[in-house]
Amino acid sequence: MDPDTRRCVNDVFAALEAGNGERNEGGRRFPACEYLDAAARLVEGKRPEFEAIMASFTALEPLIDWTRRPGGTNASANIMEGHANAMVVGPGGLEARDDVQVGISLLAPNVRYPDHRHKPEEIYLCLTPGEFRHGDDGDWFSPGVGGSFYNHPDMLHAMRSGEQPLLAVWCLRRVG
Ligand SMILES: [Fe+2]
Repeated sequence: MDPDTRRCVNDVFAALEAGNGERNEGGRRFPACEYLDAAARLVEGKRPEFEAIMASFTALEPLIDWTRRPGGTNASANIMEGHANAMVVGPGGLEARDDVQVGISLLAPNVRYPDHRHKPEEIYLCLTPGEFRHGDDGDWFSPGVGGSFYNHPDMLHAMRSGEQPLLAVWCLRRVG
């Protein structure tokens, strides 16, 4: 882990420890959620801490209102049926707050997520294979299962799945 990733994750979890939120109703799903079981199987037998993350998420998932982005720049044609985002902590999440966010993105196989950027800084933890791109001229890279990386505020980024579904945890923290 690089220093920014380590510092950001510490800041996010310090804020989470302080608590602050309210609860949403949950239960909304989208077609891509059918790939959640297949993605979970990709996590099995890897490192125990990732299995623990998956077990925690599986327990929370029925309570979550999944969301979708409305497509966007460079997204694949199958983006709408091919992706879903779960906000665990953050706007519309199980704990609604906007200083920090913790969520998971799920991509069905062969889906290219749109280029996007946001003000909060962000870290990703990849639970399955998949490719990512960050920075305006960045090449695609594979963090690998358990790989993590840091997006500084407003950095353009995207992800894409290959033959398997992609599952990645992200944490955002408002800066400034
Ligand atoms: Fe992002």
